[in-house]
Amino acid sequence: QEPLRLGLAGLGTVGSSVARLIEQHGDDLAARIGRPVRVTGISARDRSRSRDFSTTGIEWFDDPVALARSDATDVFVELMGGEDGVALQSVTTALEHGKSVVTANKALLAKHGNRLAQLSEEHGGALAFEAAVGGGIPVIKTLREALGGNRVSRVYGILNGTCNYILSRMEAEGISFGDCLRDAQALGYAEADPTFDVEGYDAAHKLSILTSIAFGTRIDRDSIFIEGISSIEPVDFAAAEELGYRIKLIGVAKRAESGIEQRVHPAMVPKDCDIARIKGVTNAVAIDGDFIGSLMLSGPGAGGNATASAVVGDIVDLARGARTPPLGRPTSSMEPYVRAKIQKH
Ligand code: NDP
Ligand code: HSE
Repeated sequence: QEPLRLGLAGLGTVGSSVARLIEQHGDDLAARIGRPVRVTGISARDRSRSRDFSTTGIEWFDDPVALARSDATDVFVELMGGEDGVALQSVTTALEHGKSVVTANKALLAKHGNRLAQLSEEHGGALAFEAAVGGGIPVIKTLREALGGNRVSRVYGILNGTCNYILSRMEAEGISFGDCLRDAQALGYAEADPTFDVEGYDAAHKLSILTSIAFGTRIDRDSIFIEGISSIEPVDFAAAEELGYRIKLIGVAKRAESGIEQRVHPAMVPKDCDIARIKGVTNAVAIDGDFIGSLMLSGPGAGGNATASAVVGDIVDLARGARTPPLGRPTSSMEPYVRAKIQKH
């Protein structure tokens, strides 16, 4: 059998975990899919940096865009990050060449997802992004597939592992904000620019994607009210404790009279509710649907291995020939059936 050839751009926390997962589980994956899966091309900034997987026999590309359009790439896996620049150029190139793309890049999708979805429709390659929301939690597939028959009224939860890690440790151990953030960076949870985490932008990027899937809307990150956690102080935890609450950074998207309301902000949640019990880097997404009722998914929301699990799950789907609709919009021709509108902030 011909192998499925992966072009892997970005060999950092997530990219190197993806390469290791494929290296370690190669035989299982081949058995599951019916053909071998191989990383055949790689790209990153620094060629001389040693990587914690075997690069023997893998072609190096200085330019991720060249890797994206290479005839030797069947699926382009973008794990570099950034909402523009080389991530946008390479994903656009891969889609324009009819290749499927797997990405964990929520910033890119929040800004350009509508256009990238359109490109994937026009040229026939899939755009898969399970890892972009909730790290290892299979929330995109759950919303789109398992809950596809429901009318969703609300999606909410803890969408940033770094913030939840910081808040949990500040509260339980009295450690300073700065020290907690440094630890989150060392553990590979934080974004390259951690402002995205602590100011709520990363959670907002994820919420904009969730909204699109849950409500069948176009992505609209600019309509989200955003407040981060950088101004939370030890005294706030003491006040919350006294009243029986915990402080969490929450993202919410819900149907309202005026449209879909989207917001990200710190909230006081009663100590005995499920969301309050989510600690550390764990994320949780609660979904209210008319037939399912309410359910909550929780699990590792950041980190190399958990995120690689979701990335490779997408690769397995694509190798099996899955053709899921990109983002929330089913297809361009079904646009008239998309009823939900988004409330402007
Ligand atoms: P890292 O910073 O650890 O890795 C980034 C990788 O991209 C590095 O290998 C770097 O090269 C490469 N790179 C960066 N810029 C360029 C460029 N201009 N040209 C070529 N290569 C480049 O990031 P993460 O692995 O943490 O994150 C990757 C993506 O996954 C991001 O979109 C992030 O938001 C997303 N994500 C991350 C999660 C996490 O827990 N870390 C979880 C879910 C999603 P070099 O190694 O040479 O410096
Ligand atoms: N920086 C992100 C977080 C990575 O902490 O949640 C996972 O998307």
